[in-house]
Amino acid sequence: MEIKLAKSAGFCFGVKRAVETVYEQIREQKEQKIYTYGPIIHNDEVIRDLKEKGVCVLETEEELGKVKDGVVIIRSHGVPKRVCSMLEKKGIPYVDATCPFVKKIHRIVSEQSARGAYIIIIGNPDHPEVKGIQGWAKEDVKVVFTAEDAQAVTVEEGKPVCVVAQTTYNYNKFKDLVEIISKKGYDITVLNTICSATKERQEEAERIAKEVDAMIVIGDKKSSNTQKLFEICNHACNNTYYIQTLDDLDMNQLRSVETVGITAGASTPNKIIEEVQNNVRINI
Ligand code: F3S
Repeated sequence: MEIKLAKSAGFCFGVKRAVETVYEQIREQKEQKIYTYGPIIHNDEVIRDLKEKGVCVLETEEELGKVKDGVVIIRSHGVPKRVCSMLEKKGIPYVDATCPFVKKIHRIVSEQSARGAYIIIIGNPDHPEVKGIQGWAKEDVKVVFTAEDAQAVTVEEGKPVCVVAQTTYNYNKFKDLVEIISKKGYDITVLNTICSATKERQEEAERIAKEVDAMIVIGDKKSSNTQKLFEICNHACNNTYYIQTLDDLDMNQLRSVETVGITAGASTPNKIIEEVQNNVRINI
């Protein structure tokens, strides 16, 4: 049995940086309470560990506004501008662990919006990163998720249009939606802000999935980048399994295969990937 482990499996630069920021704060802030605004990553194992170390997750802006002591950590997804302004106004100390690639989109949207552009964000409207990006634009901003959304875009004549993407968006879908919008004849600037970490992970996963008899995708069920990774792998290899941890893997399903591919989403810790890899090797 041969195992092909994707080199790009697991934590990306931004997630690694955000998780390390929390552990750094745990070491530094001995007396102070530590909060994260939303779970720092979509991974139950990591969240449990942080909770045991006293880190509190705040879910709403209302909860955030009530913080009296301690420090708030902003996760890699980033937040709308009004959240940073609110924290500053109330004098609540915070550490901004927004991924620099997401921060760059905030800057683009701010600048383009200030020059009067209509902002189109290609991405999932429910994803916190997209909500965050949206919050750096002035009034004219629209999230496009489906071909229907793209068809429905109407921009007042003469207004420039700026298109950006959620960093974890699928490149091919992005291209398709941009094509629909481009046909409308606007003065359009398209900035492909899809993070290369995602693209590389997706391409490598697809390449491996095409070569193997079975493919394992590891990641939290709530992680959108893992869900996309699964979609891509499942398309290339109809023997693809989506697992959160080793416990979800039924080794019997792999008994008759000769090659197994393994990849993992951006929020999957190395420990879990290694555990799966070692157990597949030992048990099959
Ligand atoms: Fe940042 Fe890319 Fe990861 S945008 S959070 S390095 S997927």
